[in-house]
Amino acid sequence: MSFPTRVRLVDVSPRDGLQNEKSPVSAAVKTELVGRLELAGLQAIEVTSFVSPKWVPQMADNAQVMAGLQRRPGIVYSVLVPNMKGLEAALAAPREQWPDEVVVFGAASEAFSQRNINCSIAESIARFEPVVQKARELGIHVRGAISCAVGCPYEGDVAPERVEQVAGLMKAIGVQHVGVADTIGVGTPRKVQQALEAALRHYGLDDVSGHFHDTYGQALANTLAALEVGIWQYDASVAGIGGCPYAKGATGNVATEDVVYLLHGMGIETGIDLDRLVDAGVFISEQLGRGTQSRVARALLNKRTL
Ligand code: HMG
Ligand code: MG
Repeated sequence: MSFPTRVRLVDVSPRDGLQNEKSPVSAAVKTELVGRLELAGLQAIEVTSFVSPKWVPQMADNAQVMAGLQRRPGIVYSVLVPNMKGLEAALAAPREQWPDEVVVFGAASEAFSQRNINCSIAESIARFEPVVQKARELGIHVRGAISCAVGCPYEGDVAPERVEQVAGLMKAIGVQHVGVADTIGVGTPRKVQQALEAALRHYGLDDVSGHFHDTYGQALANTLAALEVGIWQYDASVAGIGGCPYAKGATGNVATEDVVYLLHGMGIETGIDLDRLVDAGVFISEQLGRGTQSRVARALLNKRTL
């Protein structure tokens, strides 16, 4: 079995990790988290989202967070935008505060699309189209997320054909990369491989990534299964924080520390310093007032105290 020799990780903790937090987390803490992730060697960070503050109050400080970043060259800072209003808000800042990448987020399930972004899949694609066009005109890379790629909290199992369909729609409007997302962490390796293979019918291996929530404890197994298919880009969230407010019961993404440990153990390069990553996870866990969800971080922290 041959696996990729290098993996690119996008840490989504400042966005996916914090969006569901009920108590406010300050913009200063969010930007410090981004800084600590950079120190650990992360080259791509999902910083915030330009969505309705009524729907997701925790992301209402998006402009402040973007303005507060100490940007480093070579790092890709991405943000979620669901529509033109979101893109315009992201572009209202001075150019040096623009995101390098925007993420339009759709779903393979109609019910989830309605709950999450208040429109059908077809309507979402129509809303994304001008966003994609404008962003690309400005040289901003466009990624698409396909939520509920294996299962939906409202519709149950989701067939790979539906992922293929949404990937095709995204490709047709010029989305450059798709992330196959197991929003509620119900996927198991074969199902995840089928969902990825469905996206790969429209996108090349360099333009498909995995985004696995760990609700059922399957995310590392699913990552290994995705590596077998050749997928070399993954989203993960430091300390395993997060979840989607419109996906009932969904817990955080797979912890970045756990993925890095897996990859390094397999001799796969990430460019990430695991100890510093654990420190970033400790920082945000302390801010949130709870322990880390990362098994690897817990193990390494126990060793530090011995
Ligand atoms: P809507 O109500 O259908 O939008 O919401 P609308 O165009 O009818 O506008 C209604 C109000 O929202 C208006 O304000 C607009 O100005 C405002 P009002 O006149 O009532 O004061 N509005 C906005 N404000 C700020 N930024 C915007 C924006 N657009 C409209 N961009 C909308 C549609 C998508 C905005 C709404 O449903 C929403 O914000 N949903 C939240 C979606 C979200 O953030 N979900 C979590 C992230 S996705 C996720 O976690 C999944 C992922 O991790 C992958 C996975 O795991 O599956 C990516
Ligand atoms: Mg997610």
